[in-house]
Amino acid sequence: MRACFVALQDFEHALDPAAPCGDAIADAYLDRMFSRCTTWAGRVFVAEVDGAVAGFVCVWGRVPPQEPDEPQADYAYVSDLVVLARWRRRGLGRALLQRAEAYARALGMGAIGIGVMAENREALALYDADGYRPVHVELRKTLA
Ligand SMILES: CC(C)(COP(=O)(O)OP(=O)(O)OC[C@H]1O[C@@H](n2cnc3c(N)ncnc32)[C@H](O)[C@@H]1OP(=O)(O)O)[C@@H](O)C(=O)NCCC(=O)NCCS
Repeated sequence: MRACFVALQDFEHALDPAAPCGDAIADAYLDRMFSRCTTWAGRVFVAEVDGAVAGFVCVWGRVPPQEPDEPQADYAYVSDLVVLARWRRRGLGRALLQRAEAYARALGMGAIGIGVMAENREALALYDADGYRPVHVELRKTLA
């Protein structure tokens, strides 16, 4: 799982070099991810190929609204989804996402969210094909 997280973060680092590399933050990040699983009924589902972890999804099952101006209902949130490069395009990413959704439905959640970098075309294609629509767009301007 750690190797999968490092691959995910390094992928995002390649899209945004200001983001840290995976190995530098993996332990702290995964500690925080599991701690939020405890707080928000989270689960991690792994995809295995030949007995080894090929990818994982982490879904926080019941997240309360974080801000007063948000919709005031608990929701599920996919914090991380990754498939190792050599196992991509075989349906594992979609299967993991659908497993996270099934878990959220079983908890009675009415909506599930996910964050994605604007340049991450592969992930955006998956989310769009599976019915996810943009709700909030975050912009950044580089200052000289
Ligand atoms: C995004 C990711 C999890 C997809 O995993 P995957 O196992 O390759 O996905 P699947 O094989 O289940 O493909 C599902 C759909 O994703 C889209 N997709 C995946 N890879 C794609 C690519 N290279 N180009 C275009 N569309 C792509 C397609 O819509 C595909 O459906 P289709 O095969 O019916 O056309 C994987 O590419 C990954 O780990 N990327 C790096 C980490 C990352 O970006 N994680 C998401 C962070 S928000």
